[in-house]
Amino acid sequence: MPTPIIIDCDPGHDDVFAIWLAAGNPDIDLLAVTTVSGNGYLEHTTRNARVACTVAGVTGVPVAAGAERPLMRQAAPATWIHGDNALGGPDLPEPTVPLDPRTAVQLISDIVREAPVPVTLVPTGPLTNIATFVLAEPALAAKVREIVWMGGSTGRGNVGAYPEFNAWSDPEAADIVVRSGIPFTMVGLNITHQALVTDEVIEGVRAIGNRTALFGAELLRFFSASYQAVEGIPGPLHDPVAVAIVIDRTVATSVHARLDIETKGTETAGATCVDLHNMLRREPNAQIAMELDVERFWSLVKDSVRALA
Ligand code: BDR
Ligand code: CA
Repeated sequence: MPTPIIIDCDPGHDDVFAIWLAAGNPDIDLLAVTTVSGNGYLEHTTRNARVACTVAGVTGVPVAAGAERPLMRQAAPATWIHGDNALGGPDLPEPTVPLDPRTAVQLISDIVREAPVPVTLVPTGPLTNIATFVLAEPALAAKVREIVWMGGSTGRGNVGAYPEFNAWSDPEAADIVVRSGIPFTMVGLNITHQALVTDEVIEGVRAIGNRTALFGAELLRFFSASYQAVEGIPGPLHDPVAVAIVIDRTVATSVHARLDIETKGTETAGATCVDLHNMLRREPNAQIAMELDVERFWSLVKDSVRALA
C-alpha cells in the first residue's frame, strides 16, 4: 500500500521537485500540499505550489495556505537563491489548481483525523504550520506516523556558519516539533549537498521532454546558477531528498542521535545541534539522514517527472 503523506512546503524550486517526486511515485499517496512562508512570502509560495501542480497535471490533491510568518519572528524570504517570487526562471502559468478554503492546519488536522492509517508529514520549509498543528491538536499526534523534515544540518549552515534556512526561519517552531514526541527524521544540508544539480542532471531532466520536464529544467537552470553565484557550487536539490527517503529508506543511511534546536544564540539561532558522538548522554530523539545513494535519488526524481504531464 502506498505511504500516505502530506507535504508542507514553501516553493521554492526544490520544493516543486519534492511535490513532483511524491505525485509521480507509485509508492506515495500524496494527500495534500500545504504552504508556509519561507523561500517567499506566503502569497508566492502558495501560488507556486498551485503552479507546480498545474504544470504537472496534479489534480485532486488539495492545496491549502498556512502561516504568513514564523511563530515569533518576521518572514525573511530567500530571494538570493529563489528570486523575488520564490520561483525564478520560467514564466509562470496562471494556476488552475484551486486553493482549498481551509487553513493548512485545518486541512492537516482533517486529513490526519480521518485517515484510516497514520499519515507521514513531510515538511520542506520552516516548521511553523507543523508546530501550530502539534500545539492545536495534541491528540492527533498518535495518528502521525512520522515527520521527515528537510532542514537543519549536522555541520555547516547556509544562512550563517551553523543555521540552515528552514531551521533559522522558525527555530521556535522547530524546537516544538522536535520535542513533540512524534518520530522525527532530519534531512539536513549534510545529506542534501550530495544531490547536486549539475549540468548533466539538468540535461537529463530536460531530455525527458514532457511539459513537467521542460519547465523543471528551467527551474533547475535558475536554481543552480543562483547557487553558483552565491556559494560557488551547483545547487543542492534539498527538498526531494526527504520525499525520496519516505519512498525508499535504503536511498540514505541514517543514525539515531540526539537533536536539539538552538533558539537563542546570537550567531547560532536555528542551529540544529546533532550530538553524533553522544557527548550529552541524552536520549536519542531523531533519525539523522547521512549518506545518499545519489544515482538512485536522481533516478527516482526522473521516474516521477516522466510519469507526470
Ligand atoms: C532549504 O531552504 C530552502 O531555500 C529550500 O527550499 C530548502 O527547503 C535549504 O536550506
Ligand atoms: Ca523548501
